[in-house]
Amino acid sequence: MSGRIPREFIDDLLVRVDIVDLIDSHVPLKKTGNNFVARCPFHAEKTPSFSVNRKKQFFHCFGCGASGNAISFLMEFSHLDFVEAVEDLAAFVGIDVPRESVEYQSSKQKKEDSSELYALMEQVAGFYVERLRSGVEGKIAAEYLKNRGVGGASASDFMLGYAPDEWQALTARFDSKLLLEAGLVVIKEGGQIYDRFRGRIMFPIRDRRARIIGFGGRVLDNSLPKYLNSPETSLFHKSREVYGLYELLAKNAKPQRILIVEGYMDVIALAQYGIHYAVATLGTAASQAHLDLLFRFCSELVFCFDGDKAGREAAWRAMEPAFSSLKDGRQIRIMLLPPNHDPDSLVREEDVDGFVGRVQAAETLSDYFFGHFSNELNLSEIEGRAQLVSKARPYLEKLPESIFREMMFARLKELSGWANLDVFENAATLASNQGLKQVRKADRNLSQDGNRLSSARVAVALLVQNPRLAELVEQREIDWNGLDFPGAGLFRSILQTIADKNPVNAAVLVECYRDAAEEKSIKALALLDSQVSDDKIDAVFCDSLDRLLNQARESALTRLLNKGKTNGLDAQEKELLRKMLATKIMVPSSRNL
Ligand code: GTP
Ligand code: MN
Repeated sequence: MSGRIPREFIDDLLVRVDIVDLIDSHVPLKKTGNNFVARCPFHAEKTPSFSVNRKKQFFHCFGCGASGNAISFLMEFSHLDFVEAVEDLAAFVGIDVPRESVEYQSSKQKKEDSSELYALMEQVAGFYVERLRSGVEGKIAAEYLKNRGVGGASASDFMLGYAPDEWQALTARFDSKLLLEAGLVVIKEGGQIYDRFRGRIMFPIRDRRARIIGFGGRVLDNSLPKYLNSPETSLFHKSREVYGLYELLAKNAKPQRILIVEGYMDVIALAQYGIHYAVATLGTAASQAHLDLLFRFCSELVFCFDGDKAGREAAWRAMEPAFSSLKDGRQIRIMLLPPNHDPDSLVREEDVDGFVGRVQAAETLSDYFFGHFSNELNLSEIEGRAQLVSKARPYLEKLPESIFREMMFARLKELSGWANLDVFENAATLASNQGLKQVRKADRNLSQDGNRLSSARVAVALLVQNPRLAELVEQREIDWNGLDFPGAGLFRSILQTIADKNPVNAAVLVECYRDAAEEKSIKALALLDSQVSDDKIDAVFCDSLDRLLNQARESALTRLLNKGKTNGLDAQEKELLRKMLATKIMVPSSRNL
């Protein structure tokens, strides 16, 4: 893969594109007032609650909560990852995506792209296929597959091959430097290289664009290690790839569900039985990256685990990434197999109907999750219920804002009988029902006085929506020392980002926070409707800023004065107090100084 896309290019791209044009070309929009609306492409609805704002360069659905800038739209709408979305967006505007040169590459080998490596992988896979079809060894390997019930069609769908039991089969035929880069050979201490895979059935691992990025290899007998996988290379990243996805999509680009199994042979056996919707992680636990990848192609994932103790433990370990990936509309189910079975053996024993019946009957994540605790804890005792709350809550808190999240908390409340859970869950259900659910996170950071937006919220929301306002803050030459107010950290982080990156609008500013801890809060602020007309923005901002600063100074003063009375002030605090008293501020009349 070539180097990173320069940050400035992405910012510039977001300025060049008009999100209204972009979205309109995918989902026809209608103009109403300042916004453009449509029926939401991300959830089923009868009346439009999807709205696109030209000034903010942002979209938002009041129904399902989807929101973001042009890049986020393409990621969600076209199931793209970040880089793919940037590439598509650049194509929409008609420009090329530049790449930064990568340093480690320049020291090793200058390479503009990986096409040579991909070509090598293809040739090597072809070589392995040929070796499965010819020679004495190939015959034994083919016999092994036949004995395991793998037919010719499956072998060809999955491009199965055989690596001969020789040390130099590949090095004698292909370029050593490329072989090394592709992870297909190993270097001995003396510097000599030899083939990594020898005497093994070979499973090519393909990416979604049909390119071979790695291999798995299985021995034909009981020797160890049973499987060998390609090491991490510039093409192959285990934690992000799954086995069988290309083959799955080749059969059905929009599967109803995807089954996640553990082994190569499980994927192939299921496909052999017409169950073409299984993938396997590559000897690692499913990560959130895996789940997010798979959720691009369907809305339901079914984890399939062996029924033994190790399988049950693996199922529980899958809960963390599962919870983090569960947005509304996505579903995860858990399927535990009977003891001593894996999907390969089970489908052969129970046939398709039996196996598919089990898939359909797989437990929902919520049932599995709470069932796990009900088995483990005695919920008829207070102690058990208290443990339930303390063990379950950290998982539930990983759930993205969603109806599902609320229902999970409701279930926990019901099971534990602990009404106070509301304190954690509903901190912001007060947010007005104008679709401000997304604002919740921000609400936890920024106080809300009654139904009116606090000065802090108005100031910070206007700043996010109009980054140029940072200049008005700068002009005030504020000494932030000792000043504190709800959301102060976020406010100053935004000021810093604006100073560093100079974003021209909310969409570019939000982009600066992609995947950062503050991303949700910033997004929520970008969406907040402050109901301020364009010509009043500066005045309202200055007014809220002044009120905010006065409140902050007042509370800082009160704190210092109180401390002075009780514990005394140290030199630094005295200096701070002196400075504060010297600054022209409005001190509330109730206080006698
Ligand atoms: P068989 O049915 O015995 O051919 O294998 P399987 O596909 O059922 O695999 P198994 O359940 O034994 O293991 C699941 C997955 O874990 C495999 O597909 C491999 O990805 C990985 N794995 C198993 N054994 C090894 C090993 O010895 N080394 C490595 N690196 N991975 C392994
Ligand atoms: Mn197996």
